[in-house]
Amino acid sequence: MAILDILTYPDKFLTKKVRPVEKIDGALNKIIDDMIETMYEAPGIGLASIQIGCDKSIVVYDLSYGENENSLQVLLNPKITESCGEIVSENEGCLSVPDYRSDVKRAASVIVEALNREGKPLRIEAENFHATVLQHEIDHLNGILFIDRISKLKKGIYRRHLLKQLKQNET
Ligand code: NI
Repeated sequence: MAILDILTYPDKFLTKKVRPVEKIDGALNKIIDDMIETMYEAPGIGLASIQIGCDKSIVVYDLSYGENENSLQVLLNPKITESCGEIVSENEGCLSVPDYRSDVKRAASVIVEALNREGKPLRIEAENFHATVLQHEIDHLNGILFIDRISKLKKGIYRRHLLKQLKQNET
């Protein structure tokens, strides 16, 4: 297994939409294993394939940060099939958006359909924090970051702060 580099905003690859996984083979399983290791190492609660430069539809997440060995989930081709209600996820963050957090409006509950890594269909009913994680990760597969779901003003402040930092690092 290998720890992969995580792409960060404003990398253009993060705005790409993924293609569906069509074949579960050794190469795909290696990507999945590397994504899991990369997520735990970060540490993060979830990781989407697009964040490590792969445009196949894969999400890994673990709400326990690896504390509970049964809570790791691998989703291939996940889709939100139903969503309802509204919540504000507090202080949402992302491994691809370092040093920034914001409240984000999210659906309060979702139903997600996907395949597991053996190719068997999965149906997940999630609420609140779990629902937020799924929406955040599935957004990644559609080229959307959580900062695309906050106000233009807030995103502008973040962007200027980031550009300033990049300039400082240059000099
Ligand atoms: Ni993220």
